[in-house]
Amino acid sequence: MSHHPINIDELVDSLTLAEQVSLLAGRNIWETEPIERVGIPSMRVSDGPVGARGTDFNGPASVNTPCGTSLAATFDPALVLEVGHLLGKETRAKGARVLLAPTVNLHRTPIGGRNFECMSEDPYLTAETAVAYVNGLQAEGVAACIKHYVGNDTEFERNTIDSRIDEKTLREMYLVPFEAAVEDAHVQSVMTSYNRVNGTWAADEKRLLADVLRGEWGFDGLVMSDWFGLNSMKEGIEAGCDLEMPGPTRHRGQALVDAVERGEVSRSDVRTAARSVLALLNKVGAFADGGPGPETTRDNPEDRALVRRAGAAGMVLLKNEGNVLPIVSAPARPNVLIVGPNAAKGENRGGGSAHVNATHLVHPLPALTERFTAMGVNVLHTAGCAINKRLPELDLALCGEVRLDLFTEPADALSPTATPHTSKAITTSRFMWFGDPATGSTQPPEFGARLSTTFTPDIDGTWQFGVSSVGDATILIDGETVLSNIDVVVGGGFFGLGKAEKIVALHLQAGRAYDIVVTLLRPRTDMSVSGLHVGVQRPVVGDPIEEAAALAGQADLAIVIVGTNDDWESEGWDRDTIDLPGRQNELIERIALATEHVVVVVNAGSPVAMPWLDQVSAVVMAWFPGQELGDSLADLLFGDVEPSGRLPVTFPKRLEDTPAFEHHPGRNGVADYAERRLIGYRWYDTVGREPLFPFGFGLGYANIEVTNALVRSLYSIDVTLTNDSDRDGFQVVQVYAHRLHREGVRADEPDQKLVGFAKVAVAAGATVTAPVRLDARGYREWNETTNDWNTIPGRVQLRVGLSSRDIRATLEVTP
Ligand code: BGC
Repeated sequence: MSHHPINIDELVDSLTLAEQVSLLAGRNIWETEPIERVGIPSMRVSDGPVGARGTDFNGPASVNTPCGTSLAATFDPALVLEVGHLLGKETRAKGARVLLAPTVNLHRTPIGGRNFECMSEDPYLTAETAVAYVNGLQAEGVAACIKHYVGNDTEFERNTIDSRIDEKTLREMYLVPFEAAVEDAHVQSVMTSYNRVNGTWAADEKRLLADVLRGEWGFDGLVMSDWFGLNSMKEGIEAGCDLEMPGPTRHRGQALVDAVERGEVSRSDVRTAARSVLALLNKVGAFADGGPGPETTRDNPEDRALVRRAGAAGMVLLKNEGNVLPIVSAPARPNVLIVGPNAAKGENRGGGSAHVNATHLVHPLPALTERFTAMGVNVLHTAGCAINKRLPELDLALCGEVRLDLFTEPADALSPTATPHTSKAITTSRFMWFGDPATGSTQPPEFGARLSTTFTPDIDGTWQFGVSSVGDATILIDGETVLSNIDVVVGGGFFGLGKAEKIVALHLQAGRAYDIVVTLLRPRTDMSVSGLHVGVQRPVVGDPIEEAAALAGQADLAIVIVGTNDDWESEGWDRDTIDLPGRQNELIERIALATEHVVVVVNAGSPVAMPWLDQVSAVVMAWFPGQELGDSLADLLFGDVEPSGRLPVTFPKRLEDTPAFEHHPGRNGVADYAERRLIGYRWYDTVGREPLFPFGFGLGYANIEVTNALVRSLYSIDVTLTNDSDRDGFQVVQVYAHRLHREGVRADEPDQKLVGFAKVAVAAGATVTAPVRLDARGYREWNETTNDWNTIPGRVQLRVGLSSRDIRATLEVTP
């Protein structure tokens, strides 16, 4: 069958009703159902936006590319296209044909838990970034599955929340990236979101799926539900949600066959959905594959080089007083302090389903140390403070062998005599599993786990032990139960499916070996995610900030690497604030008092507050730049690479200043998008609120000015740039449209919106004229009376600038 062109209509019509229905849900977590009788293979899909993980959190490693905000910050679709190609190859290396990416929900509030995966607060920048991503990916014979359609812009109550978004706001903001990906990149699949949209489950939203996506935009690909995000039998099929994921089915299968036979669901709706599944298999070559391939790791120098380049290209230089950067020579006292919780262990990717195990990981401390050492500079280092949200993992240096025993019968984990199904030595106390880790089955699991080791404290004092888990866990020390989380309700960690951490404090003696046993009883549910995190916090002795400040006194330059990690920015919950976690603000302030030059590097996926901004010389926003983060950062700080990233999101001074502050997280199950179109710079610029740093802002080491701008056509302008410095550099020119005819506009009409941008290289001393392409959808508005698009009436001012707040020239056009 694989060698002949396949006639999808004939194939689908050759199937029985039950066979057609079987195609409409996964066979397991990641794969579609095969039908051997007619040679239909199974096809594998894989998460996610920053790498192709494959079927297992513990499976073969994957190249980890920069996160969504980092990619958008490059303002460089050509570079994103290259990243897309790499992800396409990675997807195939995992034997998969669909990558569950990109994530294109908008940053409605800076505290959205998955903002790091998403790209921007601006629909056009998101759309341009997503189109490039999808084009690169799909050119490798892999389908993108763009997500989450639509209204999953925060994680609060995401499985039930009703996102109430008026039509004009939906059309002009939240739908735009999806529309562009369909029309401009022919994206081959779409994932519906968990939430409801104006009352209806996204997976059942016939108007958005059938009328808008397929009807208006001409989408001819596959729609799949988010994992466990389908809540209906009849409505989902009728709306056009083709594939229920994961499997085994909860809503379809025999129940759907029966419903069709009773005449409650139409046969033709089933056929249409089955046809979509087969058509996608055909498009991506799954028939020729004959089934999911083996999962392998590909890792080569070009991939690493691309990730390193892309990671650096997204970094944004926010402040550079006295040109402290780039670091070109050794300071007078040849000491530099590299401090901060993210220095030795930076965050490359963020948490949740974006998680991949990188093929290669370069943290900031070693990469920077190598450069400084080559310059003859001595590096001092201490963490300064901790930012772990849960207690840190078990310190292996204090443990004997750590074993993990897995049992197919949960209660066996409690029995000292039961024989485990598998038993192995391990090097981590943090586990996340899909499916059954004991048997390897990809069906929803039921198992028991037992972690055991001897633990010998190196100091006397109060040690804290903590556990968070999916299922019930206990900690036994020397045979005695010291903690059980049976009473903890679900709603913490592990996508929100686990129990929040429970902690016990115990006085332990140095040098004594304690037997530690942690048991986990994981009952069967229909969810396939499981997890266990065992944490241990040593007694706190002294003040780590004092220690860091003392070291700072010996150095003229301190590089403070602060940020968040994959527990703070993850899936299933939002952040509570934009403050840096822990004592990081205090750390920066103390270092600034003790050292002359302080460079702060923020390693986070979305904005943080910077109350110390005036006290430091330089600030670099590094995002989660992917697996080569240390080298990407070194390239930027030492000037091998010109800072060319620009902010894809506004940095607010305070959370209270942000557009959705009064409406997020919503109440009584409803997230009212009452700020309507005024999110991001649209809000700050329209209401006249001062941001900390505006959208589109970013410095270079070179100085490049806009010296001329002229209109070529409605869709193209020419901008002349002059580099009056002695460094080659880049400038990111941005064009914002401001409608001059404002009579009768709705109160949430933004002052301006991004309609074009270009990243232009300008050599030292040179003048360059470059075209800036403008958004083909830039002059339309959604008309609430006709329920259709119309062209903006009157004249439109085009503002040419270097951020939403730094306009250098204005032009006018009549669309
Ligand atoms: C996420 C999706 C992801 C899926 C599979 C869900 O929890 O929302 O983005 O692709 O899981 O891991």
